[in-house]
Amino acid sequence: MQITCGTDIIEIRRIKESIEDLGEKFLNRIYTQTEIEYCESKKGQKYQHYAARFAAKEAIFKAISKDIKDKYEIGWKDMEILNDEQGRPQVRIKEMQRENIDISISHCKDYAVAMVVMLVEK
Ligand SMILES: CC(C)(COP(=O)(O)OP(=O)(O)OC[C@H]1O[C@@H](n2cnc3c(N)ncnc32)[C@H](O)[C@@H]1OP(=O)(O)O)[C@@H](O)C(=O)NCCC(=O)NCCS
Repeated sequence: MQITCGTDIIEIRRIKESIEDLGEKFLNRIYTQTEIEYCESKKGQKYQHYAARFAAKEAIFKAISKDIKDKYEIGWKDMEILNDEQGRPQVRIKEMQRENIDISISHCKDYAVAMVVMLVEK
């Protein structure tokens, strides 16, 4: 097994513009229905949560480095960021054991960041 990590930072403005310009086409390409429902429940703050999930997925793409990409070929909607009852984010990636992935997310008015750590088979 091998530990791998990834991180990403994003301007919330960029995600807001994509959603405003492309609407559901953008949302349905990037986010699962559960993620959309979670972000929409945040009303005025929703772009922070959408941006955080975008950053989270970019961080996962980075963590899945080139040499292991073939094994875990994934697209945007093969990854899902869920929150437990305490609000802690959790990742579901197809075919990957949930206990082998941990993620942390933060966002403020202008930026969202995410970092992920994974344990993958070599
Ligand atoms: C939970 C807490 C860490 C969030 O910090 P914050 O500065 O308000 O917000 P940030 O922008 O940095 O982070 C927000 C993200 O933190 C994550 N988060 C929320 N609750 C969390 C928790 N209990 N543990 C880890 N991460 C958590 C979420 O991913 C959230 O983003 P999302 O809603 O888009 O998924 C903060 O509210 C806190 O410390 N609360 C006091 C302790 C507490 O209530 N803990 C929860 C019960 S143990």
